[in-house]
Parts: sequence; structure tokens; C-alpha cells
Amino acid sequence: MTRVLNDVPDAADRIRRGQIVAFPTETVYGLGANALEETAVARVFEAKQRPSFDPLIVHVPRIDAVLPLVRTFPAGARRLADAFWPGPLTLVLPKQTRIPDLVTAGLPAVGVRIPDHPMALDLLTAAAVPVAAPSANPFGGVSPTTARHVLDGLRGRIDAVLDGGPCRVGVESTVVSFLHDRPQILRPGGISQEMIEALIGPTAAPTMHSDHPSEAPAAPGMLSRHYATNTPVHLFGPSGSPDTIPPGAALLTWGPAESFEADCCCVERLSGQDDLRECAARFFAALRVLDARQPAVILARRFPDRGLGRALNDRLRRAAVR
Ligand code: TXA
Ligand code: MG
Repeated sequence: MTRVLNDVPDAADRIRRGQIVAFPTETVYGLGANALEETAVARVFEAKQRPSFDPLIVHVPRIDAVLPLVRTFPAGARRLADAFWPGPLTLVLPKQTRIPDLVTAGLPAVGVRIPDHPMALDLLTAAAVPVAAPSANPFGGVSPTTARHVLDGLRGRIDAVLDGGPCRVGVESTVVSFLHDRPQILRPGGISQEMIEALIGPTAAPTMHSDHPSEAPAAPGMLSRHYATNTPVHLFGPSGSPDTIPPGAALLTWGPAESFEADCCCVERLSGQDDLRECAARFFAALRVLDARQPAVILARRFPDRGLGRALNDRLRRAAVR
């Protein structure tokens, strides 16, 4: 049975006892386990049906809790940490041996992050152990931004969910690797490439994603198909209208209303303007709402390729792969 909790000490105690507990962060809900306890971490992989080649991010409440987990903390990484932690940024750094290989999928590096959410910070402080947490959804599905979304996907498969209301940012953290000469953005997210490069200069070009889920991809976890809805997703834009509007099409869009919308069976407007923060905060919930209506297709308007738009376009592209 999965319990819904409002009480941080109860949730922290459960994590300390080896249970797996979903909790809110500013990006999406995470499914947390004591990162130093392999059996608890294994239960996270099992609950999500996540392949073991996909490493988990380790969450801590303060920077001094990061230091015992990593072997080096390069100056560039430190600059980003000082600027953006707590926040939607994950740093991939060489790991200390105390982090189980299961957490990092056998990689010699660990992704670490300090989330910017009062309940998450209280939970991590009370748990007093590093907490490994992927997004709290079945593998390959749409990420959860409310406790209800977590239950919809994982009810009965996890011990508890700590309910902290809807997530503020709405897309996952930006993952930046500091393993090579030049830092590389492995996943676009809540902190934009522009914000990162303003502090540390140009980052390395992104690595190609794998099209074969059975193979270990170059950037692990960055499979081309992800965020999968039951309904096929077709992209258009960012400007203009879809080439064709099949009968029973749903629309995921942003900006002022347009005449072609009358031909769609249902419309989710993420922002009346082009406010990308507003779009991100509502994105996954809107995708779920449209999918639940079981339309013939979801037509989705691409976002401008800047700032948070890049992270949103990444999620759209991967949702559209069949
Ligand atoms: O905002 C977030 O990052 C959320 C919240 C819960 O913190 N977490 C999240 O976790 O999105 P997950 O597991 O759904 O995605 C983590 C991504 C994956 O693409 C994974 O491959 C990458 O981070 N990652 C984690 N550790 C890594 C490592 N050691 N090396 C390379 N990539 C890593
Ligand atoms: Mg995820």
C-alpha cells in the first residue's frame, strides 16, 4: 500500500528505514531512497521498471554534504553550484567509492543536486543520508508534477508519497557533466544553457542520443523515446498552424488563441503569451490531461529555441518519437 504523507519527519524516517518515498522538488516529484543502501536503491529501479544502465541523481540539502560524495569539484562546477544551488541543476562529478555502483549504473561519476523546495530540503536534512531519486514515474512515462500524478503511475509500488502540492518549475534539472576538459550539458532543463555559459563559457556540443533502448546510450538515460503518452504526439511550429488537423485531434499550445483551434476536440493553452516559465510549470500536467481524453492525436506547438524553450522542445521531441 502507498501512503500519502503531509509530515516530513515521517517521510524522512521511512527513507532512513530503507523505504522508497516520493517527494516534491521544484522541478518534478522524485522517488527517493537512501543512496548508500543498495537494497533500497534496487527497489527504486524495480518500482519504476527502470533499466539498470540509467543512473540516479543523488540529492542533498547543503553543499558540505556534496563534498564527501565526489572526488573533485572543479572551479567551473563550483561556480555553477554557488550561482544555482539550491535549484534545478545537476552536476556530474567523479564519485567517491562509498556511492554504490547501482546508483551510478556502474559509471565512475555521480550526478548531485540540491533541490530548491522547502519540503525537499527539510526531508533531506531530517533523513541525514544522501537520497537517490529519479523522477517518480514509470520508466519512459510523463514526469509527475503533483502527488496525484505519482499515485497514478506508482500506486502500490512505492511505500509513500509526501504531498507538497504542484511543482513550481515543472521540467527536470539541467544535467551538466564535468568529466572532460569542457563541461557538457547532458540534458537541457530548468537552468538554461545561456545562464550556464554566461558563468563558465561555451559548453561542449551535445552527444547524440541512442535510438536503441537496449543499448547503453552515450548520455545514459537520454533515450530518444521518453515522456511517452498513450496518444501519438505530432509537432508543429513554433509559428503557424498544423498542416492538417485530423478528426479528434487535441492541441497543446501557447500564445494567443487562433482560428484553427475550433477544429480541435480539446485545447490546453500553457500560456496566453510566450511566457516559457508558465509553459514549463504547466507542461507535464497539460500533457497528461490531453492524453486522458484519448484523442486521435496530440498536436503540440514547439517552443522558441531559447532558455527554458530548449528543455521543453527536448521533452516534446522525445514524446513525439513512436
Ligand atoms: O529535476 C530532476 O533532475 C529530477 C528531480 C527528482 O531531482 N530528477 C530526475 O531524475 O529527473 P531522472 O532519473 O528522471 O533523470 C536523471 C537524468 C537521467 O537522464 C540520467 O541518465 C542523468 O540524469 N544522470 C544521472 N546521473 C548521471 C551520471 N552519473 N552520469 C550521467 N548522467 C547522469
Ligand atoms: Mg525521469
